Amino acid sequence: MNNSRIDINKYSFSLAPLRGITGKEFRTALTRNFNGISACFLPFVSVTEVSADKFSRYSNIFTLDELLNKVDYEVIPQIIGNYPPAIARISAMFRDNGFNHVNLNLGCPMPQITKKMRGSGLLPYPDKIKSILDEVFKVNNLKFSVKIRLGLNSYEDAYDVIAVLNNYPLHELIIHPRLAIDRYAGEINLTEFEKVMKMTSIPVTYNGDIVDYDTFIDKTLRFPNITNYMIGRGLVACPFLVEAFKANHSLDYNFYFDKFRNFYYDLIDSLEECEERDNVSRLKVYWIYFKKFFPDSEEVYHKMVRCNSISEMKI
Ligand SMILES: Cc1cc2nc3c(=O)[nH]c(=O)nc-3n(C[C@H](O)[C@H](O)[C@H](O)COP(=O)(O)O)c2cc1C
Repeated sequence: MNNSRIDINKYSFSLAPLRGITGKEFRTALTRNFNGISACFLPFVSVTEVSADKFSRYSNIFTLDELLNKVDYEVIPQIIGNYPPAIARISAMFRDNGFNHVNLNLGCPMPQITKKMRGSGLLPYPDKIKSILDEVFKVNNLKFSVKIRLGLNSYEDAYDVIAVLNNYPLHELIIHPRLAIDRYAGEINLTEFEKVMKMTSIPVTYNGDIVDYDTFIDKTLRFPNITNYMIGRGLVACPFLVEAFKANHSLDYNFYFDKFRNFYYDLIDSLEECEERDNVSRLKVYWIYFKKFFPDSEEVYHKMVRCNSISEMKI
C-alpha cells in the first residue's frame, strides 16, 4: 500500500525518545541523511527532589547545534520524576538555556521506574499529576506537553488523568495505546485510544507500532483528525521511513541503500566521538532494529553480532 489515499503534507512526524537508542549520535545521523522529521523528543532525564539546577548536568543529552537551535527540527527535552518543584525548576532551566518546549514522561512502563511512582507509575495518581502541572504552568514562556499510556494496570487510569490534563493549556498530548503492564508488546488498543482521544481537546499525537505504510495509513483512516505522529522503533529499524512516506516512495531498501550507508557511517563516526568505551555493543543494539528491514538480514545480523571492532562492522 502507498499513501496516495491521503494528503501526506498535512502530517507531521516526530522521533520518539528511546533511551540508549535515539541519543544525539542517532539523531545527528538520522536528520543529516533523511528528511521529514519535524521534532525530536529527547530520552528522559530523571529529576528528583535533590536534582541540582546545574545545566551542565544535562549537557551530554544534546548536541551543540541542538542547543544553539541550528537544526531544522524542534528539540524537546523530556523529564521523568514526581516532585513538582524540581520538575518546574528543571523545566525553567531548559527554557533559560534556549529550549522552548519540555515534555513530561507519564508512560515509562519499567517496574524499577513505576514502583517509584514515576513514568506510568503516576497514572493511577491524577492528584499527583495535577500538583506537577500546577507547578510547571507557573513557568512562563514554555510549551509543556505530556506523553502517556492508557494506564498502569487499568484503562480507567487514563480517564481520570485526562480529566486533570483537560484543565491545563498543554501543547500536546502524546498517547501510546498500551497499558504499562503490556510494556512494548501485545496488541495496541485502538478502541481505548479512540475513547480517550475523544475525551480531550488537547492536540493528540499518536504513538505506537508504526513500522510501514500499512500501519501508518490504517491510523490516518481511522483517526482522520490526528495529524501528528510520533515514531520510535519503526524509524530506528528503517531510518528512511518518514522520508519515504513524504516522497510517496516505496520502502525499498535497495533504493535507499546508499543513503542508509551514509547514515550508518555517520552513526559510526558519532559513536566513535563519544566517550563511551562500548561503541561496538551499542552498534550491535542498532542492528537488532536494522535487521528487521535490511536485505539478507539474518546473515548480516549474525555477522555483526560476532564483530569485536567497529571496523569489522562496515557495510
Ligand atoms: C529501548 C526503549 C527506550 C525507551 N525510552 C523512552 C524514553 O526515554 N522516554 C519515553 O517517553 N519513551 C521511551 N520509550 C518508549 C518510546 O518512546 C515509544 O513510546 C514506544 O517505543 C512506542 O512507539 P514505537 O512503537 O513507535 O516504538 C522507549 C522505548 C524503548 C523500546
